[in-house]
Amino acid sequence: MIPIARPLMGPEEQAGVAETLMSGSLAQGPRVRELEERFAAFIGVPHAVATSSGTTALHLALLAAGVGPGSEVITVPFTFIASATSILYTGARPTFVDVNAPDFCMDPGLLEAAITPRTKAVMPVSLYGQPADMPAISEIAERHGIAVIEDAAQSHGAAIDGRRSGTWGQGVFSFYPTKNMTTGEGGMITTADSDLADWARLRREHGMKVRYHHDVLGYNFRMTDVHAAIGLAQLAKLPAFNARRTEIAARYSDALRGVVVPSLRPGVTHVFHQYTLRVLKRDAFAERLRERGVGTGVYYPIPVHRQKPLLDLGYGDESFPVSEQLTEEVLSIPVHPGLSDADVDTVIEAVNATAAELGAHPESRVAA
Ligand SMILES: Cc1ncc(COP(=O)(O)O)c(C=O)c1O
Repeated sequence: MIPIARPLMGPEEQAGVAETLMSGSLAQGPRVRELEERFAAFIGVPHAVATSSGTTALHLALLAAGVGPGSEVITVPFTFIASATSILYTGARPTFVDVNAPDFCMDPGLLEAAITPRTKAVMPVSLYGQPADMPAISEIAERHGIAVIEDAAQSHGAAIDGRRSGTWGQGVFSFYPTKNMTTGEGGMITTADSDLADWARLRREHGMKVRYHHDVLGYNFRMTDVHAAIGLAQLAKLPAFNARRTEIAARYSDALRGVVVPSLRPGVTHVFHQYTLRVLKRDAFAERLRERGVGTGVYYPIPVHRQKPLLDLGYGDESFPVSEQLTEEVLSIPVHPGLSDADVDTVIEAVNATAAELGAHPESRVAA
C-alpha cells in the first residue's frame, strides 16, 4: 500500500538527536534558538517563537493579539479542529465565513460582513499548502483594526508573488510528523513585531525571565531541543521536499481525468502539503483506491462548526454550503516526497481507472 503520508528521516536527523541526547540540553535550549533563527530567515521575518505544537502556537498567537473572553475571531469551517479550539481556549468565540471551492481557502468577499464590534482577529487557513488570499484579507483586517493570524500549519514555504506564508500579521506553523517538515511534535509563530515576539516568549515559559520570578501568568508551551534537532535537519531538506511535492503534483494535474484537480490562484507557490481531489461517491472511491494499493485521506469529513465540542455554541442553523459540499467530496492522494516515480504511475492509473468506473465529477476535465 502506498501510504498517504510518511515522514522522511535520515542520518542527519539521527545524528542531530543523538548529539542532543548526549549534550545535556534536553528541554528548550540552544537548538530551539537556532531553529527559530533559521526558520525566521527561511520564512522572511525577523522573529520566530517555537512552541510544543501548532495548537499551542495558535493559542499563544491569539493571546498575543489580545483575544480573550468577549472577543470573536473569524475563521473557516473547512479546516482542522485546532483552528477553532485554539480560539475557544482563550475564552473567545469562533465565528465562521465560508471558503472558495477552487482554492479551499477563506472567501475574502465574505469577510467584511462577518466583522462585528467584538471581532478581534481573523484567522485564515492556508489549507493543503496553498496560501489563503492574504493580501485581500490583510487589507480588510487593517481597515477594521483587527489582527491577522494566518494558520499556516500546512504551508511551510508557500508564497504569493514570492512573499511567503507566515509574513502577514502572525503566522502559525505546525511540525506534526505528516507536515512538509516535522520536529515530531512542534509549532512556530512568525512575526515582524518584536514586542509581540517577546510577549509570546515570556508566556511560553511560565511568564518568567529570571528563574522562578514569574511576572505574568504563563504556560509551558516550550519545544524541546531534541525536537528542534530533528527540525534543523528537516528545515535544511524542506526546499528539496517541497520541490519533489510540486513535481509529483504537476504530474498528477497533467494526467488525472474525471476528478477535480487542485487549482492554483495566479502568483501562488503551492507546496502541496496535500494533493486533494474532488470526486463523486467519495467513500467508494477511497475504497477502490485502497483495493488498488493506494492510501488516501479525507481532510476533513465534518465542518468544524458541526463538530461536537462546538455544538453548544449554537451554529446549528448556520450554513456554509461550500464547506459542507467539500466535506463530502474531498479525497487526498499521496504526494509526499518519499514516493517513487513508479508509485506516482500507480496512483495515476488507480485514480483514472476508479473515476472511469464510478463516473466523472461534473466539474472535472474528462478528455484524455
Ligand atoms: C490547519 C491546521 N491547524 C492547526 C493544526 C495543529 O497543529 P498541531 O497538530 O501541531 O497541534 C494543524 C495540524 O495538525 C493543521 O493542519
